[in-house]
Amino acid sequence: MKPAKLHCWFLGCFSVALCCCCASDKFTQSDNHPHTWKKLYLAHHWPVTVCKMSANDCQDPPEYWTIHGLWPDKTEECNRTWHFNVTEIKDLMSDMRRYWPDVLHSSLNRTQFWKHEWEKHGTCAATLQVLNSQKKYFGKALELYQHVDLNSCLLKAGIKPSSSYYQMTAIKEALTRFYGVMPKIQCLPPEEGEKAQTIGQIEFCFTKELQLRNCTALKGENEPVQADLKLGTEELSVCSDTLPTYYPSQVQDHK
Ligand SMILES: *[C@@H]1O[C@H](CO)[C@@H](O)[C@H](O)[C@H]1NC(C)=O
Ligand SMILES: *[C@@H]1O[C@H](CO)[C@@H](O)[C@H](O)[C@H]1NC(C)=O
Ligand SMILES: *[C@@H]1O[C@H](CO)[C@@H](O)[C@H](O)[C@H]1NC(C)=O
Ligand SMILES: *[C@@H]1O[C@H](CO)[C@@H](O)[C@H](O)[C@H]1NC(C)=O
Repeated sequence: MKPAKLHCWFLGCFSVALCCCCASDKFTQSDNHPHTWKKLYLAHHWPVTVCKMSANDCQDPPEYWTIHGLWPDKTEECNRTWHFNVTEIKDLMSDMRRYWPDVLHSSLNRTQFWKHEWEKHGTCAATLQVLNSQKKYFGKALELYQHVDLNSCLLKAGIKPSSSYYQMTAIKEALTRFYGVMPKIQCLPPEEGEKAQTIGQIEFCFTKELQLRNCTALKGENEPVQADLKLGTEELSVCSDTLPTYYPSQVQDHK
């Protein structure tokens, strides 16, 4: 069951929801329970960049943003006895393969990536009733991905893979205009002797009610200890607003 796709133009509704949420968040006492979290990150990664980061068997990475994961902030591996079981998500398999592929190990059995995501993040997200099974967790992540529809929003904003550079501020402005919230955008820093960073990951933040919200911390919230993607020696980090930004179309490009 897929939600109707939102059209970028009508995303104004999110801002309304967002206002209610921050209003109530301000009055919520933060507690120190080890497995509490405040927001979810829906991380999209750009397969071409992921493939540049590691010597691996990437083959023809998809040229669309795919899901990296759905991550509660501030907590990991909440239940080590709740093992991944691919049979539980067999109904989701075609969408999983298409939208949540293991970009780095395209020729291998892909379930390792999902197992990792479930055990590290899903078992924590499962404190929410709407995410408290593997089928619900992966199914809801796919649903949010379709709902956000990042690929078409970027296209509509004229932001597509290119051999020329983008201004990070232009990308941010386009996304904020569409969504009413600011995602967290991660880049591969410039290689030695180069001046441009490479966009690699776009993370949208959601409240526990699964409404889009800004990724920046609200008053009284700690910044999360965020797991950044590290592969070999290369690592994604928050993009600089001032460096030119490369949005590569092919792995071989620009090496
Ligand atoms: C951890 O997962 C197991 C297996 O699903 C479940 O029986 C148990 O209740 C869970 N523990 C907690 C603390 O949620
Ligand atoms: C995996 O899930 C299926 C379907 O829910 C279930 O029948 C099977 O027993 C599970 N396997 C394990 C090892 O828990
Ligand atoms: C992947 O591995 C799992 C468990 O190791 C197995 O059940 C499944 O059949 C494998 N899938 C493929 C496509 O090889
Ligand atoms: C979210 O961030 C955007 C851009 O920084 C800002 O304009 C907006 O007011 C923020 N919304 C909330 C609810 O904080």
